[in-house]
Amino acid sequence: MCSRNIKISVVLFLVLIPIFAALPHNHNLSKRSNFFDLECKGIFNKTMFFRLDRICEDCYQLFRETSIHRLCKQECFGSPFFNACIEALQLHEEMDKYNEWRDTLGRK
Ligand SMILES: *[C@@H]1O[C@H](CO)[C@@H](O)[C@H](O)[C@H]1NC(C)=O
Ligand SMILES: *[C@@H]1O[C@H](CO)[C@@H](O)[C@H](O)[C@H]1NC(C)=O
Repeated sequence: MCSRNIKISVVLFLVLIPIFAALPHNHNLSKRSNFFDLECKGIFNKTMFFRLDRICEDCYQLFRETSIHRLCKQECFGSPFFNACIEALQLHEEMDKYNEWRDTLGRK
């Protein structure tokens, strides 16, 4: 369905990482984000929320880039970075499920 989107996400990712790497770093990672901090406006489901949160954690571990961590969670996992993280973690087979979950959480 969205192989073109996937390509765009990956390209976006590859282009933006060096840009973020060049920015001043703020190595102050809030440990656990919560539903309301992320401005999620949908239905809170713990299973969904912590799984998506975990994806962003893993993505951060992969790139060691705090900006990625923040951007991944932006807009209640609604930014293109979240999809890019799914790609980067090779979870694209479950992409539809995760997109559905973030719709539930974020009420897009
Ligand atoms: C990290 O962020 C928290 C919350 O925003 C703040 O209270 C704390 O002082 C910050 N720590 C550092 C080392 O910047
Ligand atoms: C939360 O989502 C999971 C996975 O989709 C589902 O199995 C579970 O029933 C949901 N829990 C609630 C309280 O809706």
